[in-house]
Amino acid sequence: MFTHLLFLATSLGTVSAARELWFNQPAWDWASQALPIGNGKHAASFFGGINNDSWALNSDSLWTGGPFQLKNYTGGNPAESRVPALRGIQDFIFKNGTGSIAGILGSDAGYGSYSVLGNLSVGLDLDAATASSYKLWLDIDRGVGGSSFVTEKYGKITRDYFCSFPAQACIYHLESTKPLPTVTVSLGSTRSPAPTITTASNTITLRGLAESPDGMLYDARAAIVFPGTAQKGKDFTTSTGLSVPATAGVKELWIVLSMDTNYDETKGNPSDGYTFQGIDPAKKVAGNVAAAASKSYNALLAEHIKDHQALYRAFSLTLPDPLGSASKATDELMKAYTLDKGDPYLESLLFDFGRYLLIGSSRPNSLPPNLQGKWSNGFGAAWSGDYHTNINLQMNVWGSEATGLGGTLDGLWRYMTETWVPRGSETASLLYGATEGWVVHNEINTFGHTGLKGNGDQSTALWFAYSAANAWMMQHVWDHYDFTGDKDWYKSVGYPLIKGVAQFHLSTLLEDKYYNDGTLVVNPCNSPEQPPSTFGCAIDQQQISEVFMNVLKGWDASGDKDLAFKKRVEDALSKLYTGIRVGRYGQIQEWKLDIDNPEDGHRHLSHLYGWYPGYSISSVHRENTTITKAVETTLIHRGLGKWTDANAGWEKVWRGACWAGLNNSTMSYYELRFAIVENFANNLYSVYSKDPSTIGTWVFQIDANFGTVGQVLHMFVHDLDVGYGQSGEKTVVLAPAVPEAWWGSKIEGHRLRGGGEVSFEVSGEGKVKSVVLKSRKSSAPKLKFVDATGKELEVKRS
Ligand SMILES: *[C@@H]1O[C@H](CO)[C@@H](O)[C@H](O)[C@H]1NC(C)=O
Ligand SMILES: *[C@@H]1O[C@H](CO)[C@@H](O)[C@H](O)[C@H]1NC(C)=O
Ligand SMILES: *[C@@H]1O[C@H](CO)[C@@H](O)[C@H](O)[C@H]1NC(C)=O
Ligand SMILES: *[C@@H]1O[C@H](CO)[C@@H](O)[C@H](O)[C@H]1NC(C)=O
Ligand SMILES: *[C@@H]1O[C@H](CO)[C@@H](O)[C@H](O)[C@H]1NC(C)=O
Ligand SMILES: *[C@@H]1O[C@H](CO)[C@@H](O)[C@H](O)[C@H]1NC(C)=O
Ligand SMILES: *[C@@H]1O[C@H](CO)[C@@H](O)[C@H](O)[C@H]1NC(C)=O
Repeated sequence: MFTHLLFLATSLGTVSAARELWFNQPAWDWASQALPIGNGKHAASFFGGINNDSWALNSDSLWTGGPFQLKNYTGGNPAESRVPALRGIQDFIFKNGTGSIAGILGSDAGYGSYSVLGNLSVGLDLDAATASSYKLWLDIDRGVGGSSFVTEKYGKITRDYFCSFPAQACIYHLESTKPLPTVTVSLGSTRSPAPTITTASNTITLRGLAESPDGMLYDARAAIVFPGTAQKGKDFTTSTGLSVPATAGVKELWIVLSMDTNYDETKGNPSDGYTFQGIDPAKKVAGNVAAAASKSYNALLAEHIKDHQALYRAFSLTLPDPLGSASKATDELMKAYTLDKGDPYLESLLFDFGRYLLIGSSRPNSLPPNLQGKWSNGFGAAWSGDYHTNINLQMNVWGSEATGLGGTLDGLWRYMTETWVPRGSETASLLYGATEGWVVHNEINTFGHTGLKGNGDQSTALWFAYSAANAWMMQHVWDHYDFTGDKDWYKSVGYPLIKGVAQFHLSTLLEDKYYNDGTLVVNPCNSPEQPPSTFGCAIDQQQISEVFMNVLKGWDASGDKDLAFKKRVEDALSKLYTGIRVGRYGQIQEWKLDIDNPEDGHRHLSHLYGWYPGYSISSVHRENTTITKAVETTLIHRGLGKWTDANAGWEKVWRGACWAGLNNSTMSYYELRFAIVENFANNLYSVYSKDPSTIGTWVFQIDANFGTVGQVLHMFVHDLDVGYGQSGEKTVVLAPAVPEAWWGSKIEGHRLRGGGEVSFEVSGEGKVKSVVLKSRKSSAPKLKFVDATGKELEVKRS
């Protein structure tokens, strides 16, 4: 009943129940307790104590390395063509089946790392021991975090934090019911080389270089602002920061902070000398601060909430709350959570937190979310906080289109266009002898590191030698068009990317000289993070087949008149080994050679790409039970995602999504719970290890946060892409893998391929009801909605 009322309220747009992560004590440990705010370019993690708290500050482009550090930086490309070596490697692999690719492995010189900018620290001159009723929270519905406590002398002190996209600034608001104690504000960084900190006119400026002697320039400014005119003309600047004395009698103030670097994404091409050098950001940062400081706090807050909710409320998932968890602190919920029995409220909070993190780390003017989204607290981040493109960057955007957040990905398309295509075209030619198109490999920075890493050592090939990463990323480019139907975008942004990738693979696929079966294969390849170097890796083949199919499916929309190219794609698709082969123990083979080890519980599910998130298995072969059985066999042999190799969250939610694709709610829900138990910290960050004895050194990696969104959506809706030439009415399955614990739930605004959105409920008895299809154009492909049993559902259109 309670949930039912909540639905009603939501549909009337009146629900205002805060959607919070919250805690009764301060956060001290960054990775497991700090809470994130962000607007894509700016990010901050807030933590700290009662009378002193701080933000770890991140500016999205602040990296060490690249051409800022190394003037002759090449993006990992060799000085000379490696094609003669490649030809020898290919011949050997076609003779022997596997081989060494040492001769084409490259360099990671100047690779660099995403890097924290500094701290904003705010001190209150009061005795923390006199405080009570402390609360720390993050309201993901409003996009506002904060903390509050009560002291007798100063009343209730409340701090609100947010990073505003409209203002391009972050706001730290401080308010009390009685005049505040002395407030000190500072900006600092322990980086070497040390930054320059200057203070003037109620503003602190922190400027420095990411490294010495050369490095990227960063600039951060924080200004203090007061309501009304009582403090007009007063300067609270000290030599180290700002200090507003208790004697000023202030009850409210706020800090406006903006930051940026001199990185310019549009300067990573040959005509700009691959410099990525932009202008000194000082003027822009100062302008952002001045503009925001001229507005009232309420105006800043209102424009921020409006902007945030336009995205956040575009979609909603409500799960039941049988345990009354909505009224409990998040760390209590985590503590009570067990593998045997989940907590639907916590699971839905985690799902919504994933959407929140995407809104906070991905905006049209920002770089795409990296391995830590945008929240990092080291001068060097784990795995450089880079873009890993063999599952991680992809997982970051799994849930975006279906939840109406595809518009946040403009930064991703630009990042690929500006930083991958130019260098990647060189890599295509230097490493592969490709005459057209571009390529990238598995580890990529913001400076177009499209070459291979590895320094010539074959034992490192498994990490880097994945040359279909470009094809995998094209899934998201295609999906953006498929969901939005935006032809202008497709013509100008999406299709040029897809065409370049298709050209690379057309130019490099070889006829299989091992099996001599006339098919086209990739040679050499490494299935992500697995030996050996071989040919015909399933993932590469499946992904290339999807790129070719997508070129053809979108041909009319592309506006391309190059019919010779179209013909080459059609011919290549007809001869392509599609990477779907059932092997000796009934598994989907990871390689064209039937060499899978049934005991291999490896973290990646590379050969199931075409099952999820791809469609070359799940949709193209959906009627073939030999193949669906093989998918299940593969999943069983691959284990639960905690093997001797790793214990990450992303491997579990990927498995969970694959099980959802098999309509298996039991296994899918188990994987989600397993991930929560093993990999989510109290602040709901996905972390690599939750060993209590090593707290303080846990590694936050954001992919599983985003992955939960994709997995949960796949438990509720199967709206698969279709193969080239598959036509007719399309079936969408609703609630194919919704566990009993989630019966009594509601999903609103799930976007569909071809346009429009579907909303529905899963009743307390597990029946799908109240299906509403909205905004679907009559010209879009016809849809039939069925439930898990295959029964056609009654649909109301609006
Ligand atoms: C770049 O310069 C460094 C020294 O500054 C040198 O060691 C390195 O070999 C150069 N790399 C290339 C690709 O020229
Ligand atoms: C040739 O193939 C065999 C079997 O896959 C493998 O063990 C061997 O290492 C390969 N030879 C080289 C030089 O890679
Ligand atoms: C905490 O705040 C007080 C009062 O503003 C200040 O004197 C002190 O240096 C701060 N401590 C830290 C660790 O920031
Ligand atoms: C932020 O402050 C903390 C605590 O003083 C310090 O350990 C950390 O190094 C600082 N971070 C930066 C980026 O300077
Ligand atoms: C199903 O897939 C298997 C394995 O690829 C294949 O041998 C079989 O012919 C397929 N069945 C149909 C009906 O296409
Ligand atoms: C889900 O998968 C598990 C493990 O393979 C299996 O035991 C169970 O029967 C499956 N459930 C359904 C409904 O298919
Ligand atoms: C999942 O259920 C739907 C609806 O009954 C059915 O069409 C589909 O074939 C099922 N998928 C699998 C892998 O069994």
